[in-house]
Amino acid sequence: MTMTTETYVEKLLGEDSDLQRVMESIRANGMPEISIAPGYGRLLTMLVRMSGAKHVLEIGALGGYSGICLARGLAEGGTLTSLELMPNYAEVARSNLREAGFGDRVEYIVGDAKAGLDELARQGKSFDFLFIDADKDNYPAYLEKVIRLAKPGAVIAGDNALMHGRTIDPERSGPSVQAMREFNERMTGDPRLLGTLLPAYDGLAVAIVK
Ligand SMILES: C[S@@+](CC[C@H](N)C(=O)[O-])C[C@H]1O[C@@H](n2cnc3c(N)ncnc32)[C@H](O)[C@@H]1O
Repeated sequence: MTMTTETYVEKLLGEDSDLQRVMESIRANGMPEISIAPGYGRLLTMLVRMSGAKHVLEIGALGGYSGICLARGLAEGGTLTSLELMPNYAEVARSNLREAGFGDRVEYIVGDAKAGLDELARQGKSFDFLFIDADKDNYPAYLEKVIRLAKPGAVIAGDNALMHGRTIDPERSGPSVQAMREFNERMTGDPRLLGTLLPAYDGLAVAIVK
């Protein structure tokens, strides 16, 4: 295998049996192999821990890879609320979180995330860390909704900000590309946020709520 800067980092991070189990279960269940990259998974753990986050929200569970990374950073008594459209994906994620020792920390809300986010707002819930990693067309809508659910000083992160180059390709102007451009502009320029975009892997936008 050719060494890239990213595979170099992954070699440094070493093997991880819990995350390996997630990847194997994703393959075994015929799910898409689109979990967050290992280097950013480690970053999620660090950001959750650095921010002292107690209540973390995730949009897009897939097989639980990012869920495990987020849960690993949680403070004592912390919780992860994960929104996932596909019931069978949520089941796989739930099982992987349980195997990794976080079964009692995570709650899955199955269904369309927009409805789930509105319901959490109606219940008066708020979060210290919010990770967006679902359908790209809805990123700007998700951002608006998570800002409303965020405590002051909360961290927001969004994966796939570069969409494998499509975001910066002037020839591309489809709905998901336009949505991602709008999301990135808001993450870095919205007066309610202080944010930046990390360009490694597929791009991770990170912001704090002022
Ligand atoms: C990129 S994957 C998430 C990867 C996961 N965060 C990880 O790194 O381990 C995107 C997930 O979003 C889910 N999804 C897509 N549309 C959704 C929606 N409208 N509401 C909730 N989840 C959705 C998909 O089913 C898929 O599991």
